[in-house]
Amino acid sequence: MPILYKKEDMNNVLPINSRKEMVAEMQGNGADVRSRFSLMIPERTLEDVIVPEIVMNRLRDSLAGITHRKTLQKWGLCKNKTGAGIVINLFGPPGTGKTLSAEAIANAIEKKLFTVSYSDLESKLIGETAHNIEKAFEYAGANDAVLFFDEADSILSKRVPDPSHSNDHEIIAIRNKVLKLMEGFSGVMILATNLAECFDSAARRRITDQVEFSMPDYETRIRLLEKFIPPECPVSEEITREWLATETEGLSGGDIENLVYAAARKALRENGPDCVIGRTHFSDAVNQQKTAAMQVGKN
Ligand SMILES: Nc1ncnc2c1ncn2[C@@H]1O[C@H](COP(=O)(O)OP(=O)(O)O)[C@@H](O)[C@H]1O
Ligand SMILES: [Mg+2]
Repeated sequence: MPILYKKEDMNNVLPINSRKEMVAEMQGNGADVRSRFSLMIPERTLEDVIVPEIVMNRLRDSLAGITHRKTLQKWGLCKNKTGAGIVINLFGPPGTGKTLSAEAIANAIEKKLFTVSYSDLESKLIGETAHNIEKAFEYAGANDAVLFFDEADSILSKRVPDPSHSNDHEIIAIRNKVLKLMEGFSGVMILATNLAECFDSAARRRITDQVEFSMPDYETRIRLLEKFIPPECPVSEEITREWLATETEGLSGGDIENLVYAAARKALRENGPDCVIGRTHFSDAVNQQKTAAMQVGKN
């Protein structure tokens, strides 16, 4: 499968329109739909995204911009500086559901998702970065896929490097190239970033939809806990969602998912498969997750 767009893959790309054909093609290639650099068939939907109503409505507005594009064009509302395409920027703290939402958006419009994570791309293909970015746009276009730039700040940051340094020269060239490609791209592009404040204004002007994600509030944590603690999970009766929602204040959806898993492991280690996951397991897991959230990979 085309994990990364190699030249020969690029030359053989044919647009695939129906979802059925798309699935068959991907399965025929033995595609790993979870692979980081992949042209994936989205599985998760907007139903999987647990966010406050206001954020969900922003996501739905973005979708309306895609599905009602013809009407918007008829109304003369698409001829703007951003070109014909749509660029959705999902920004907010880590673990709040941005990557998940990119997948859900692609799913809602029945398109594949082509994920490009700049930092990995750069480290793997040093010197070829600009060329590969161009290919990513072409590849997404040829496959009618949503182009998803994860960690987009690493490429669109306003940091002005020192042009006399050869590496910085390349950074400037890459950034300008991306801005140009964004302008010419007629498909749907999604950016995700934990560091939106670092975007430069030229990048901001090319973004058509801004969707802010935040750490989950109490009500959202209740819904996340409902999702991440399925009914078959042997949780002690003394544990209420309300108690856990209070305990998990300041943690993201991703943190909450991790801590439930951590609590289950602790109970299993102590008492094996017949265990019950109790208060101490959850308390320990919450503390562990809070410490990690403070100290590990802050961005
Ligand atoms: N708002 C959310 N709704 C549902 N699940 C979430 C949410 N936020 C995080 N998760 C869970 O945590 C995982 C990591 O979240 P992710 O979308 O990668 O966060 P981000 O891209 O914002 O860093 C997701 O795959 C999902 O299982
Ligand atoms: Mg992410």
